[in-house]
Amino acid sequence: MAGAAQHAHWSSRWAFIMAAVGSAVGLGNIWKFPYEAGQGGGGAFVMVYLLFVFFIGTPMLVAELSLGRRGQLSPIGSMKKIAQEEKRSPLWGLIGWSGVVGAFIVISFYSVVGGWTLAYMVKSAMGAFSNIDAQTAQDTFVSYISNPVMTLVSHFAFMGITIFIVAKGVQGGLEKAVTYLMPALFAILLVLVVYSGFTGDFAKTVDFLFNPDFDELLYKANSPEAIAAGGAAKVFSLDMVLQALGQSFFSLSLALGSIMTYGSYLTRDVNVGRSALTIAAADSSVALMAGLAIFPIVFAYGLDVAEGGGLVFMSLPIAFGQMPFGIVVGTLFFGLLAVAAITSSISLLEPPVSYVEEKTGWNRRKVAITMGVAAGVLGVLSAYSQGDNMLSSISIFGLSIMDAKDFLTNNIIMPLGGLFTALFVGWFVSRKAMMEELAMEDKTFRIWYFLARFVSPTAIGIIFIKIIYDTVVG
Ligand code: PHE
Repeated sequence: MAGAAQHAHWSSRWAFIMAAVGSAVGLGNIWKFPYEAGQGGGGAFVMVYLLFVFFIGTPMLVAELSLGRRGQLSPIGSMKKIAQEEKRSPLWGLIGWSGVVGAFIVISFYSVVGGWTLAYMVKSAMGAFSNIDAQTAQDTFVSYISNPVMTLVSHFAFMGITIFIVAKGVQGGLEKAVTYLMPALFAILLVLVVYSGFTGDFAKTVDFLFNPDFDELLYKANSPEAIAAGGAAKVFSLDMVLQALGQSFFSLSLALGSIMTYGSYLTRDVNVGRSALTIAAADSSVALMAGLAIFPIVFAYGLDVAEGGGLVFMSLPIAFGQMPFGIVVGTLFFGLLAVAAITSSISLLEPPVSYVEEKTGWNRRKVAITMGVAAGVLGVLSAYSQGDNMLSSISIFGLSIMDAKDFLTNNIIMPLGGLFTALFVGWFVSRKAMMEELAMEDKTFRIWYFLARFVSPTAIGIIFIKIIYDTVVG
């Protein structure tokens, strides 16, 4: 349906909001945010994260949505077109390219973790977690990610669902999926928060998440060698602050072309500023709700808050295996993760699909299948790089294939894409064009313009320089 000639549009503001919230809310909120908050010491991390979401992320959402809507094309097409209108170098099209290529790389491994959530939903439903202890939970996870057949099946099952939805087009696929899935997700999450609140340690959770301790955030333990050499036990470090900035970008789906593509399906009557605020508010509420659902269980069962990426897959099954109705709660939880991941993965497949569709004029189904299968094949490398799986011995600069792709996108493509997007809207598109596109009240516009022009580039510039510095020096 969404042919190159007749670019598709959302049928309503509600459909657009649900799609954008669906893109933003994903593994980043429910799986990554709680474990990063756990590692960042809780409240202080949460507070800094929220500041980034509202002062940097939200203005960037506005920027990407308005660029997409102005361009009415894929991220690459839109960036080139606007650069031309503004008499700027066609090289600005590279922002579109980095988004499209970045999204293609991210979906290739996002789908692997998405597959894990599907597999864990099935495991839970079959009662695989009944009364398991920590060791068995860990063995279960490692033996699953090491199994070439199981991981392949779950990865392609997840990718298959994504392709199916994207192939059906904007109104037929994306909209239908998100308008049902997003409300379902909120409902399941609410049930889990209430359940955890009654059975787990809610008081400790509230204290942990909302009572900031900045020492926890700003200092990290010094190395034994440094202490032996007379250094302090703790040293000042911005690592977790920068982590919070990166997480705010990832969580809001910025810099990968997803929001820009969704913006291109927007009609002129939608207020971009208000929509961005709604998306950011919904995204952060889901992250906080995920924390409120997970930490009571973590505290009640004495699990480690700083467990890391294994928090969901290795720790929570222990809790599900012990609690009454654990099969139901566990299956709901992993089902919820899968739903959240699917509504994000469709937005990751969308930028490459919209570009190829525009370039070739092929029908959407053909493009969705081609791009999805290609990303799926690339994803096999990630899937097989985990545990003791077939490619686990391959290391790229000391990283597994999966981690290398994550590093490339999260630490290079996303900060650079964000930085140049902010510079573009702040300094290279005329103020008049942006004012016209945003149609905001004068005061609101000035706040946005200041944040986009000065605050975002400075903050992102610092994060990027710090990443490069750590990589080269550290
Ligand atoms: N925001 C999604 C999440 O939190 C991931 C994502 C990033 C989706 C970038 C699209 C683009 O899981």
